[in-house]
Amino acid sequence: MTGAYVASIDQGSASSRCMLFDRRGRLVSVAQKEHRQLFPRPGWVEQDAEEILGNVLQVVPDALEKAELKLADLVALGIANQRETTVVWDRDSGRPIYNAISWQDTRTDKIVNRLAAEGGKDRFRAKTGLPLTTYFSGPKIQWILDHVEGARDGAERGTVLFGTMDTWLIWKLTGRHVTDVTNASRTMLMDLRSLDWDDELLEAMKVPRAMLPEIHASSEPYGEAGAPLRGLPVAAALGDQQAALFGQTCFAAGEAKCTYGTGSFLLLNTGDRLVESTHGLLTTVGCRIAGEPPTYALEGSIAVTGALVQWLRDKLGLISSAAEIETLARTVEDSGGVYVVPAFSGLFAPHWRSDARGVIAGLTGYTTKGHLARAVLEATAWQTREVIDAMNSDAGTVLRVLKADGGMTADNLMMQLLADNLGVPVVRPIVAETVSLGAAYAAGLAVGFWPNVESLRANWHKAAEWLPRLDPETRERRFRKWKKAVARTLEWVDDDDE
Ligand SMILES: Nc1ncnc2c1ncn2[C@@H]1O[C@H](COP(=O)(O)OP(=O)(O)OP(=O)(O)O)[C@@H](O)[C@H]1O
Ligand SMILES: [Mg+2]
Repeated sequence: MTGAYVASIDQGSASSRCMLFDRRGRLVSVAQKEHRQLFPRPGWVEQDAEEILGNVLQVVPDALEKAELKLADLVALGIANQRETTVVWDRDSGRPIYNAISWQDTRTDKIVNRLAAEGGKDRFRAKTGLPLTTYFSGPKIQWILDHVEGARDGAERGTVLFGTMDTWLIWKLTGRHVTDVTNASRTMLMDLRSLDWDDELLEAMKVPRAMLPEIHASSEPYGEAGAPLRGLPVAAALGDQQAALFGQTCFAAGEAKCTYGTGSFLLLNTGDRLVESTHGLLTTVGCRIAGEPPTYALEGSIAVTGALVQWLRDKLGLISSAAEIETLARTVEDSGGVYVVPAFSGLFAPHWRSDARGVIAGLTGYTTKGHLARAVLEATAWQTREVIDAMNSDAGTVLRVLKADGGMTADNLMMQLLADNLGVPVVRPIVAETVSLGAAYAAGLAVGFWPNVESLRANWHKAAEWLPRLDPETRERRFRKWKKAVARTLEWVDDDDE
Protein backbone atom coordinates (compact mmCIF):
# COMPACT_ATOMS: atom_id res chain seq x y z
CA MET A 1 0.00 0.00 0.00
CA THR A 2 1.72 3.17 -1.20
CA GLY A 3 -0.90 5.82 -0.40
CA ALA A 4 -1.09 7.61 2.90
CA TYR A 5 -4.53 9.24 2.74
CA VAL A 6 -8.19 8.27 2.59
CA ALA A 7 -10.70 10.32 0.60
CA SER A 8 -14.32 10.70 1.50
CA ILE A 9 -17.24 12.18 -0.33
CA ASP A 10 -20.04 13.73 1.69
CA GLN A 11 -22.89 14.01 -0.77
CA GLY A 12 -25.18 16.23 1.34
CA SER A 13 -28.58 17.83 0.81
CA ALA A 14 -27.08 21.21 0.07
CA SER A 15 -23.63 20.44 -1.30
CA SER A 16 -21.07 17.76 -2.09
CA ARG A 17 -17.72 17.74 -0.36
CA CYS A 18 -14.51 15.83 -0.69
CA MET A 19 -12.23 15.61 2.32
CA LEU A 20 -8.86 13.92 2.64
CA PHE A 21 -7.69 12.44 5.94
CA ASP A 22 -4.33 11.12 7.07
CA ARG A 23 -3.69 8.05 9.18
CA ARG A 24 -4.30 9.95 12.42
CA GLY A 25 -7.70 11.12 11.22
CA ARG A 26 -6.53 14.67 10.61
CA LEU A 27 -8.21 16.65 7.87
CA VAL A 28 -5.67 17.63 5.22
CA SER A 29 -7.85 19.01 2.44
CA VAL A 30 -11.42 19.93 1.58
CA ALA A 31 -13.26 20.99 -1.57
CA GLN A 32 -16.97 21.69 -1.73
CA LYS A 33 -19.62 22.56 -4.29
CA GLU A 34 -23.27 23.45 -3.72
CA HIS A 35 -26.03 22.17 -5.98
CA ARG A 36 -29.37 23.71 -6.82
CA GLN A 37 -32.53 23.04 -4.83
CA LEU A 38 -35.57 22.92 -7.06
CA PHE A 39 -38.93 23.84 -5.53
CA PRO A 40 -41.46 23.25 -8.35
CA ARG A 41 -44.47 23.51 -5.99
CA PRO A 42 -45.05 24.08 -2.26
CA GLY A 43 -43.81 20.96 -0.48
CA TRP A 44 -41.91 19.61 -3.49
CA VAL A 45 -38.11 19.52 -3.28
CA GLU A 46 -36.01 18.16 -6.15
CA GLN A 47 -32.35 17.98 -7.15
CA ASP A 48 -30.56 17.19 -10.38
CA ALA A 49 -28.68 13.90 -9.91
CA GLU A 50 -26.42 14.61 -12.90
CA GLU A 51 -25.45 18.00 -11.51
CA ILE A 52 -24.59 16.29 -8.22
CA LEU A 53 -22.51 13.64 -10.01
CA GLY A 54 -20.64 16.40 -11.86
CA ASN A 55 -19.92 18.16 -8.56
CA VAL A 56 -18.65 14.95 -6.96
CA LEU A 57 -16.32 14.29 -9.90
CA GLN A 58 -15.01 17.81 -9.54
CA VAL A 59 -14.46 18.04 -5.78
CA VAL A 60 -12.22 14.97 -5.59
CA PRO A 61 -9.53 16.34 -7.95
CA ASP A 62 -10.01 19.79 -6.39
CA ALA A 63 -9.26 18.43 -2.91
CA LEU A 64 -6.21 16.56 -4.23
CA GLU A 65 -4.92 19.66 -5.97
CA LYS A 66 -5.32 21.84 -2.86
CA ALA A 67 -3.16 19.44 -0.84
CA GLU A 68 -0.77 18.89 -3.77
CA LEU A 69 -1.56 15.18 -3.77
CA LYS A 70 -2.15 12.69 -6.57
CA LEU A 71 -4.74 9.97 -7.03
CA ALA A 72 -2.02 7.42 -6.22
CA ASP A 73 -1.67 8.97 -2.74
CA LEU A 74 -5.16 7.71 -1.86
CA VAL A 75 -5.78 4.21 -0.53
CA ALA A 76 -9.56 4.29 -0.76
CA LEU A 77 -12.69 6.37 -1.17
CA GLY A 78 -15.66 6.28 1.21
CA ILE A 79 -19.07 7.76 0.45
CA ALA A 80 -21.49 9.30 2.93
CA ASN A 81 -24.70 10.66 1.53
CA GLN A 82 -27.96 12.45 2.19
CA ARG A 83 -30.35 9.63 2.92
CA GLU A 84 -33.74 8.71 1.41
CA THR A 85 -33.33 11.07 -1.56
CA THR A 86 -34.49 8.98 -4.48
CA VAL A 87 -32.97 8.65 -7.95
CA VAL A 88 -34.49 6.53 -10.70
CA TRP A 89 -32.53 6.17 -13.93
CA ASP A 90 -32.39 4.31 -17.22
CA ARG A 91 -29.78 1.55 -17.13
CA ASP A 92 -28.85 1.84 -20.80
CA SER A 93 -28.64 5.59 -21.28
CA GLY A 94 -27.38 6.13 -17.71
CA ARG A 95 -29.68 9.14 -17.39
CA PRO A 96 -32.21 9.83 -14.63
CA ILE A 97 -35.80 9.57 -15.82
CA TYR A 98 -36.92 12.20 -13.30
CA ASN A 99 -35.25 14.70 -10.95
CA ALA A 100 -34.04 13.24 -7.66
CA ILE A 101 -36.84 13.59 -5.09
CA SER A 102 -35.40 14.98 -1.86
CA TRP A 103 -36.00 13.45 1.55
CA GLN A 104 -37.67 16.76 2.48
CA ASP A 105 -40.31 16.42 -0.26
CA THR A 106 -43.90 15.89 0.93
CA ARG A 107 -45.62 15.01 -2.39
CA THR A 108 -46.14 11.40 -1.34
CA ASP A 109 -48.54 12.32 1.47
CA LYS A 110 -51.53 10.82 -0.34
CA ILE A 111 -49.68 7.56 -1.07
CA VAL A 112 -48.62 7.41 2.56
CA ASN A 113 -52.12 8.16 3.88
CA ARG A 114 -53.55 5.45 1.65
CA LEU A 115 -51.02 2.95 3.00
CA ALA A 116 -51.75 4.01 6.59
CA ALA A 117 -55.51 3.70 6.06
CA GLU A 118 -55.12 -0.08 6.38
CA GLY A 119 -53.21 -0.78 9.55
CA GLY A 120 -52.17 2.69 10.68
CA LYS A 121 -48.98 4.74 10.56
CA ASP A 122 -46.97 2.08 12.38
CA ARG A 123 -48.07 -0.73 10.09
CA PHE A 124 -44.51 -1.52 8.97
CA ARG A 125 -42.66 -0.40 12.09
CA ALA A 126 -41.89 -3.86 13.47
CA LYS A 127 -40.19 -4.84 10.22
CA THR A 128 -38.61 -1.56 9.13
CA GLY A 129 -38.24 0.47 12.34
CA LEU A 130 -39.99 3.35 10.55
CA PRO A 131 -43.40 5.03 10.64
CA LEU A 132 -45.28 5.66 7.40
CA THR A 133 -44.38 9.21 6.40
CA THR A 134 -43.29 11.08 3.30
CA TYR A 135 -39.66 10.96 4.51
CA PHE A 136 -38.61 7.53 3.23
CA SER A 137 -37.77 6.38 -0.31
CA GLY A 138 -40.35 3.63 -1.02
CA PRO A 139 -43.33 5.92 -1.64
CA LYS A 140 -41.11 8.30 -3.65
CA ILE A 141 -40.20 5.42 -5.99
CA GLN A 142 -43.88 4.58 -6.35
CA TRP A 143 -44.65 8.19 -7.24
CA ILE A 144 -42.01 8.25 -10.00
CA LEU A 145 -43.12 4.90 -11.43
CA ASP A 146 -46.71 6.18 -11.50
CA HIS A 147 -45.89 9.52 -13.11
CA VAL A 148 -43.19 8.85 -15.70
CA GLU A 149 -44.40 7.10 -18.83
CA GLY A 150 -42.96 3.65 -19.33
CA ALA A 151 -41.14 3.73 -16.00
CA ARG A 152 -43.00 0.88 -14.39
CA ASP A 153 -42.47 -1.45 -17.37
CA GLY A 154 -38.76 -0.67 -17.36
CA ALA A 155 -38.54 -1.20 -13.61
CA GLU A 156 -40.17 -4.62 -13.93
CA ARG A 157 -37.69 -5.57 -16.66
CA GLY A 158 -34.76 -4.19 -14.65
CA THR A 159 -33.83 -1.57 -17.26
CA VAL A 160 -35.00 1.24 -14.98
CA LEU A 161 -33.00 1.30 -11.75
CA PHE A 162 -33.47 2.83 -8.30
CA GLY A 163 -30.83 4.12 -5.97
CA THR A 164 -30.24 6.49 -3.12
CA MET A 165 -27.29 8.84 -3.71
CA ASP A 166 -24.70 6.24 -2.61
CA THR A 167 -26.02 3.79 -5.20
CA TRP A 168 -26.19 6.38 -7.96
CA LEU A 169 -22.59 7.45 -7.33
CA ILE A 170 -21.18 3.92 -6.92
CA TRP A 171 -22.95 2.83 -10.11
CA LYS A 172 -21.46 5.76 -12.01
CA LEU A 173 -18.00 5.20 -10.47
CA THR A 174 -17.71 1.40 -10.61
CA GLY A 175 -20.59 0.14 -12.74
CA ARG A 176 -21.99 -1.93 -9.84
CA HIS A 177 -25.60 -1.55 -8.69
CA VAL A 178 -25.23 -1.80 -4.91
CA THR A 179 -26.22 -0.03 -1.71
CA ASP A 180 -25.25 -0.45 1.93
CA VAL A 181 -27.42 -1.60 4.82
CA THR A 182 -27.72 1.85 6.39
CA ASN A 183 -29.05 3.46 3.24
CA ALA A 184 -31.28 0.46 2.51
CA SER A 185 -32.74 0.73 6.02
CA ARG A 186 -34.24 4.12 5.03
CA THR A 187 -36.19 2.94 1.99
CA MET A 188 -38.97 1.25 3.99
CA LEU A 189 -38.38 -1.72 1.71
CA MET A 190 -35.84 -3.61 3.82
CA ASP A 191 -36.42 -5.97 6.74
CA LEU A 192 -34.15 -4.85 9.59
CA ARG A 193 -33.52 -8.43 10.69
CA SER A 194 -32.86 -10.23 7.40
CA LEU A 195 -31.16 -7.12 5.92
CA ASP A 196 -32.81 -7.98 2.62
CA TRP A 197 -35.60 -6.47 0.52
CA ASP A 198 -38.93 -7.76 1.76
CA ASP A 199 -41.70 -9.01 -0.54
CA GLU A 200 -44.57 -7.74 1.61
CA LEU A 201 -43.07 -4.25 1.64
CA LEU A 202 -42.26 -4.28 -2.07
CA GLU A 203 -45.83 -5.27 -2.86
CA ALA A 204 -47.33 -2.63 -0.59
CA MET A 205 -45.14 0.13 -2.09
CA LYS A 206 -45.57 -1.29 -5.63
CA VAL A 207 -41.80 -1.42 -6.19
CA PRO A 208 -40.45 -4.20 -8.48
CA ARG A 209 -37.47 -6.06 -7.02
CA ALA A 210 -35.68 -6.02 -10.39
CA MET A 211 -34.97 -2.28 -10.07
CA LEU A 212 -33.33 -2.52 -6.64
CA PRO A 213 -29.60 -2.63 -5.87
CA GLU A 214 -27.88 -5.47 -4.00
CA ILE A 215 -27.52 -4.74 -0.28
CA HIS A 216 -23.95 -4.89 1.03
CA ALA A 217 -21.97 -4.07 4.16
CA SER A 218 -21.15 -0.39 4.82
CA SER A 219 -17.40 -0.99 5.02
CA GLU A 220 -16.41 -3.28 2.16
CA PRO A 221 -14.46 -2.85 -1.11
CA TYR A 222 -17.25 -2.46 -3.70
CA GLY A 223 -14.96 -2.08 -6.71
CA GLU A 224 -12.46 0.18 -8.40
CA ALA A 225 -13.48 3.45 -9.96
CA GLY A 226 -13.04 4.07 -13.67
CA ALA A 227 -11.95 7.39 -15.18
CA PRO A 228 -11.53 10.10 -13.95
CA LEU A 229 -10.70 8.39 -10.61
CA ARG A 230 -9.29 5.30 -12.30
CA GLY A 231 -8.10 2.56 -9.95
CA LEU A 232 -9.35 4.17 -6.71
CA PRO A 233 -11.02 1.52 -4.53
CA VAL A 234 -14.55 2.57 -3.51
CA ALA A 235 -14.69 0.90 -0.12
CA ALA A 236 -17.49 2.36 2.01
CA ALA A 237 -20.99 3.77 1.86
CA LEU A 238 -23.10 4.98 4.75
CA GLY A 239 -26.02 7.30 5.20
CA ASP A 240 -24.56 10.62 6.38
CA GLN A 241 -25.96 10.33 9.90
CA GLN A 242 -24.69 6.81 10.38
CA ALA A 243 -21.33 8.01 9.04
CA ALA A 244 -21.31 10.76 11.67
CA LEU A 245 -22.02 8.22 14.42
CA PHE A 246 -18.99 6.30 13.16
CA GLY A 247 -16.87 9.44 12.79
CA GLN A 248 -17.66 10.39 16.41
CA THR A 249 -16.29 6.92 17.28
CA CYS A 250 -19.61 5.92 18.86
CA PHE A 251 -18.74 2.28 18.25
CA ALA A 252 -20.22 0.85 21.46
CA ALA A 253 -23.80 0.48 22.64
CA GLY A 254 -24.86 3.51 24.70
CA GLU A 255 -22.79 6.07 22.75
CA ALA A 256 -24.67 8.88 21.00
CA LYS A 257 -24.12 11.99 18.88
CA CYS A 258 -26.17 14.74 17.25
CA THR A 259 -25.18 16.25 13.88
CA TYR A 260 -26.35 19.78 13.08
CA GLY A 261 -26.67 20.54 9.34
CA THR A 262 -29.68 21.16 7.08
CA GLY A 263 -31.60 19.05 9.58
CA SER A 264 -30.31 17.51 12.80
CA PHE A 265 -30.07 13.88 13.70
CA LEU A 266 -29.47 12.33 17.09
CA LEU A 267 -28.33 8.71 16.92
CA LEU A 268 -27.75 6.31 19.79
CA ASN A 269 -25.80 3.11 19.14
CA THR A 270 -27.79 0.19 20.58
CA GLY A 271 -25.26 -2.48 19.57
CA ASP A 272 -26.78 -5.79 18.45
CA ARG A 273 -30.13 -4.81 20.03
CA LEU A 274 -32.99 -3.76 17.80
CA VAL A 275 -34.86 -1.36 20.07
CA GLU A 276 -38.40 -0.66 18.93
CA SER A 277 -39.32 2.91 19.82
CA THR A 278 -42.53 3.74 21.62
CA HIS A 279 -41.73 7.48 21.74
CA GLY A 280 -41.50 8.47 18.08
CA LEU A 281 -37.92 7.57 17.27
CA LEU A 282 -36.72 5.44 14.38
CA THR A 283 -34.93 2.12 14.59
CA THR A 284 -32.24 1.96 11.97
CA VAL A 285 -29.02 0.18 11.03
CA GLY A 286 -25.96 1.93 12.47
CA CYS A 287 -23.29 0.22 10.40
CA ARG A 288 -22.14 -3.14 9.14
CA ILE A 289 -18.49 -3.93 8.64
CA ALA A 290 -17.91 -6.74 6.12
CA GLY A 291 -17.75 -10.11 7.85
CA GLU A 292 -19.36 -8.80 11.05
CA PRO A 293 -22.94 -8.59 12.28
CA PRO A 294 -24.71 -5.21 12.01
CA THR A 295 -25.00 -2.67 14.79
CA TYR A 296 -28.34 -0.97 15.25
CA ALA A 297 -29.27 2.53 16.37
CA LEU A 298 -32.16 4.59 17.64
CA GLU A 299 -32.59 7.87 15.80
CA GLY A 300 -34.33 11.16 16.43
CA SER A 301 -34.60 12.92 13.06
CA ILE A 302 -35.29 16.66 12.94
CA ALA A 303 -36.02 17.88 9.42
CA VAL A 304 -35.29 21.60 9.71
CA THR A 305 -32.55 23.26 11.78
CA GLY A 306 -29.75 24.79 9.65
CA ALA A 307 -32.30 25.02 6.83
CA LEU A 308 -34.22 27.53 8.95
CA VAL A 309 -31.09 29.70 9.15
CA GLN A 310 -30.78 29.44 5.37
CA TRP A 311 -34.43 30.40 5.03
CA LEU A 312 -33.84 33.51 7.11
CA ARG A 313 -30.92 34.33 4.82
CA ASP A 314 -32.27 33.38 1.38
CA LYS A 315 -36.03 33.83 1.65
CA LEU A 316 -36.37 36.65 4.20
CA GLY A 317 -33.03 38.35 3.60
CA LEU A 318 -32.62 39.19 7.31
CA ILE A 319 -28.98 38.08 7.27
CA SER A 320 -26.50 37.80 4.43
CA SER A 321 -24.56 34.79 5.70
CA ALA A 322 -25.43 31.93 8.04
CA ALA A 323 -22.76 33.04 10.50
CA GLU A 324 -24.46 36.46 10.83
CA ILE A 325 -27.36 34.92 12.71
CA GLU A 326 -25.19 34.71 15.80
CA THR A 327 -24.41 38.44 15.69
CA LEU A 328 -28.06 39.30 15.16
CA ALA A 329 -29.25 36.94 17.91
CA ARG A 330 -26.74 38.46 20.34
CA THR A 331 -28.44 41.88 20.01
CA VAL A 332 -31.10 40.61 22.44
CA GLU A 333 -31.06 38.85 25.83
CA ASP A 334 -33.66 36.24 24.95
CA SER A 335 -36.24 35.48 22.25
CA GLY A 336 -38.77 37.91 23.78
CA GLY A 337 -41.38 35.17 24.00
CA VAL A 338 -41.15 34.31 20.29
CA TYR A 339 -41.09 30.66 19.15
CA VAL A 340 -40.43 29.53 15.57
CA VAL A 341 -41.53 25.98 14.79
CA PRO A 342 -40.10 25.14 11.35
CA ALA A 343 -42.53 22.41 10.30
CA PHE A 344 -41.68 23.02 6.62
CA SER A 345 -41.88 19.30 5.77
CA GLY A 346 -44.37 18.52 8.51
CA LEU A 347 -42.88 17.53 11.84
CA PHE A 348 -40.41 14.66 12.08
CA ALA A 349 -39.36 13.06 15.39
CA PRO A 350 -40.90 12.61 17.82
CA HIS A 351 -44.21 13.81 16.32
CA TRP A 352 -44.30 12.47 12.73
CA ARG A 353 -47.08 14.76 11.60
CA SER A 354 -47.27 15.39 7.86
CA ASP A 355 -50.23 17.72 8.44
CA ALA A 356 -48.13 20.23 10.39
CA ARG A 357 -46.78 23.43 8.81
CA GLY A 358 -44.51 26.09 10.25
CA VAL A 359 -45.58 28.82 12.67
CA ILE A 360 -44.06 31.85 14.34
CA ALA A 361 -45.84 32.18 17.68
CA GLY A 362 -45.81 34.91 20.29
CA LEU A 363 -45.38 37.94 17.97
CA THR A 364 -46.05 41.36 19.48
CA GLY A 365 -45.08 44.91 18.57
CA TYR A 366 -42.06 44.43 20.83
CA THR A 367 -40.58 41.72 18.56
CA THR A 368 -37.42 42.66 16.65
CA LYS A 369 -35.44 40.76 14.06
CA GLY A 370 -32.99 40.00 16.87
CA HIS A 371 -35.73 38.12 18.74
CA LEU A 372 -36.57 36.25 15.56
CA ALA A 373 -32.93 35.27 15.03
CA ARG A 374 -32.67 34.08 18.60
CA ALA A 375 -35.90 32.09 18.30
CA VAL A 376 -34.49 30.45 15.16
CA LEU A 377 -31.44 29.22 17.07
CA GLU A 378 -33.58 28.19 20.02
CA ALA A 379 -35.79 26.14 17.69
CA THR A 380 -32.81 23.87 17.12
CA ALA A 381 -32.25 23.52 20.85
CA TRP A 382 -35.91 22.80 21.66
CA GLN A 383 -36.25 20.27 18.87
CA THR A 384 -33.14 18.53 20.22
CA ARG A 385 -34.69 18.56 23.70
CA GLU A 386 -37.77 16.78 22.35
CA VAL A 387 -35.77 13.97 20.76
CA ILE A 388 -33.50 13.58 23.79
CA ASP A 389 -36.54 13.21 26.04
CA ALA A 390 -37.85 10.54 23.65
CA MET A 391 -34.46 8.81 23.55
CA ASN A 392 -34.18 8.75 27.35
CA SER A 393 -37.64 7.19 27.58
CA ASP A 394 -37.00 4.58 24.87
CA ALA A 395 -33.53 3.59 25.97
CA GLY A 396 -34.35 3.74 29.69
CA THR A 397 -31.15 5.70 30.30
CA VAL A 398 -30.34 9.36 30.76
CA LEU A 399 -28.05 11.16 28.34
CA ARG A 400 -25.44 12.93 30.47
CA VAL A 401 -23.48 14.75 27.79
CA LEU A 402 -24.27 15.56 24.17
CA LYS A 403 -21.57 15.01 21.52
CA ALA A 404 -22.41 17.51 18.79
CA ASP A 405 -20.94 18.08 15.32
CA GLY A 406 -21.82 19.48 11.88
CA GLY A 407 -21.66 22.92 10.25
CA MET A 408 -24.11 24.59 12.62
CA THR A 409 -21.91 23.85 15.65
CA ALA A 410 -19.64 26.69 14.50
CA ASP A 411 -22.26 28.91 16.14
CA ASN A 412 -21.15 29.43 19.75
CA LEU A 413 -24.41 31.03 20.84
CA MET A 414 -26.37 28.10 19.44
CA MET A 415 -24.10 25.73 21.38
CA GLN A 416 -24.71 27.65 24.60
CA LEU A 417 -28.47 27.65 23.96
CA LEU A 418 -28.29 23.89 23.45
CA ALA A 419 -26.57 23.36 26.80
CA ASP A 420 -29.01 25.78 28.48
CA ASN A 421 -32.19 24.30 27.00
CA LEU A 422 -31.12 20.68 27.42
CA GLY A 423 -29.62 21.08 30.87
CA VAL A 424 -26.61 18.90 29.99
CA PRO A 425 -23.06 19.72 28.85
CA VAL A 426 -22.47 19.83 25.10
CA VAL A 427 -19.08 18.91 23.60
CA ARG A 428 -17.66 19.35 20.10
CA PRO A 429 -14.71 17.33 18.75
CA ILE A 430 -11.78 18.87 16.86
CA VAL A 431 -12.98 17.33 13.61
CA ALA A 432 -16.58 18.57 13.48
CA GLU A 433 -16.90 17.12 9.95
CA THR A 434 -17.75 13.72 11.38
CA VAL A 435 -19.83 12.67 8.38
CA SER A 436 -16.77 12.79 6.15
CA LEU A 437 -14.52 11.36 8.82
CA GLY A 438 -16.86 8.41 9.40
CA ALA A 439 -16.97 7.54 5.69
CA ALA A 440 -13.17 7.79 5.56
CA TYR A 441 -12.83 5.53 8.62
CA ALA A 442 -15.15 2.93 7.11
CA ALA A 443 -13.26 2.97 3.79
CA GLY A 444 -9.84 2.87 5.46
CA LEU A 445 -10.90 -0.09 7.61
CA ALA A 446 -12.16 -1.97 4.53
CA VAL A 447 -8.76 -1.81 2.82
CA GLY A 448 -6.69 -2.43 5.95
CA PHE A 449 -5.37 1.15 6.25
CA TRP A 450 -6.53 1.04 9.88
CA PRO A 451 -6.45 -2.31 11.69
CA ASN A 452 -9.69 -2.04 13.72
CA VAL A 453 -12.20 0.43 15.15
CA GLU A 454 -10.50 0.58 18.53
CA SER A 455 -7.41 2.09 16.89
CA LEU A 456 -9.59 5.03 15.79
CA ARG A 457 -10.76 6.06 19.24
CA ALA A 458 -7.41 7.70 19.98
CA ASN A 459 -8.12 10.18 17.16
CA TRP A 460 -11.11 11.74 18.98
CA HIS A 461 -10.23 14.95 20.81
CA LYS A 462 -12.54 17.43 22.52
CA ALA A 463 -12.25 20.94 21.05
CA ALA A 464 -14.80 22.77 23.19
CA GLU A 465 -17.45 22.28 25.85
CA TRP A 466 -20.52 24.30 26.89
CA LEU A 467 -22.10 23.97 30.32
CA PRO A 468 -25.76 24.72 31.16
CA ARG A 469 -26.21 28.18 32.68
CA LEU A 470 -29.98 28.60 32.66
CA ASP A 471 -31.86 27.90 35.89
CA PRO A 472 -34.02 24.78 35.56
CA GLU A 473 -37.25 26.62 36.32
CA THR A 474 -36.85 29.09 33.44
CA ARG A 475 -35.79 26.25 31.17
CA GLU A 476 -38.88 24.16 31.89
CA ARG A 477 -41.19 27.20 31.65
CA ARG A 478 -39.83 28.01 28.20
CA PHE A 479 -40.02 24.37 27.13
CA ARG A 480 -43.73 24.28 28.03
CA LYS A 481 -44.20 27.35 25.85
CA TRP A 482 -42.32 25.64 23.01
CA LYS A 483 -44.67 22.66 23.24
CA LYS A 484 -47.61 25.04 23.03
CA ALA A 485 -46.16 26.53 19.86
CA VAL A 486 -45.72 23.02 18.42
CA ALA A 487 -49.40 22.33 19.08
CA ARG A 488 -50.24 25.38 16.94
CA THR A 489 -48.62 23.78 13.85
CA LEU A 490 -50.81 20.66 13.83
CA GLU A 491 -53.74 19.95 11.49
CA TRP A 492 -52.78 22.82 9.22
CA VAL A 493 -52.81 20.78 6.00
CA ASP A 494 -56.36 19.72 5.18
CA ASP A 495 -58.76 19.30 2.26
CA ASP A 496 -58.68 23.05 1.58
CA ASP A 497 -55.08 22.75 0.37
CA GLU A 498 -54.79 22.77 -3.40
N1 LIG B 1 -22.72 30.10 12.24
C1 LIG B 1 -23.85 29.44 11.96
N2 LIG B 1 -24.94 29.61 12.74
C2 LIG B 1 -26.07 28.92 12.48
N3 LIG B 1 -26.21 28.07 11.47
C3 LIG B 1 -25.17 27.88 10.67
C4 LIG B 1 -23.94 28.54 10.87
N4 LIG B 1 -23.08 28.13 9.91
C5 LIG B 1 -23.74 27.26 9.15
N5 LIG B 1 -25.00 27.11 9.59
C6 LIG B 1 -26.05 26.24 9.03
O1 LIG B 1 -25.51 24.93 9.01
C7 LIG B 1 -25.87 24.29 7.80
C8 LIG B 1 -24.60 23.82 7.15
O2 LIG B 1 -24.05 22.81 7.96
P1 LIG B 1 -23.43 21.56 7.24
O3 LIG B 1 -22.44 22.02 6.27
O4 LIG B 1 -23.02 20.58 8.27
O5 LIG B 1 -24.73 21.05 6.57
P2 LIG B 1 -24.71 20.16 5.34
O6 LIG B 1 -23.83 19.01 5.65
O7 LIG B 1 -24.40 20.99 4.15
O8 LIG B 1 -26.11 19.73 5.23
P3 LIG B 1 -26.45 18.61 4.27
O9 LIG B 1 -25.62 17.43 4.61
O10 LIG B 1 -27.87 18.42 4.60
O11 LIG B 1 -26.15 19.12 2.89
C9 LIG B 1 -26.61 25.26 6.95
O12 LIG B 1 -27.99 24.93 6.99
C10 LIG B 1 -26.38 26.61 7.61
O13 LIG B 1 -27.53 27.40 7.58
MG1 LIG C 1 -24.13 16.98 5.70
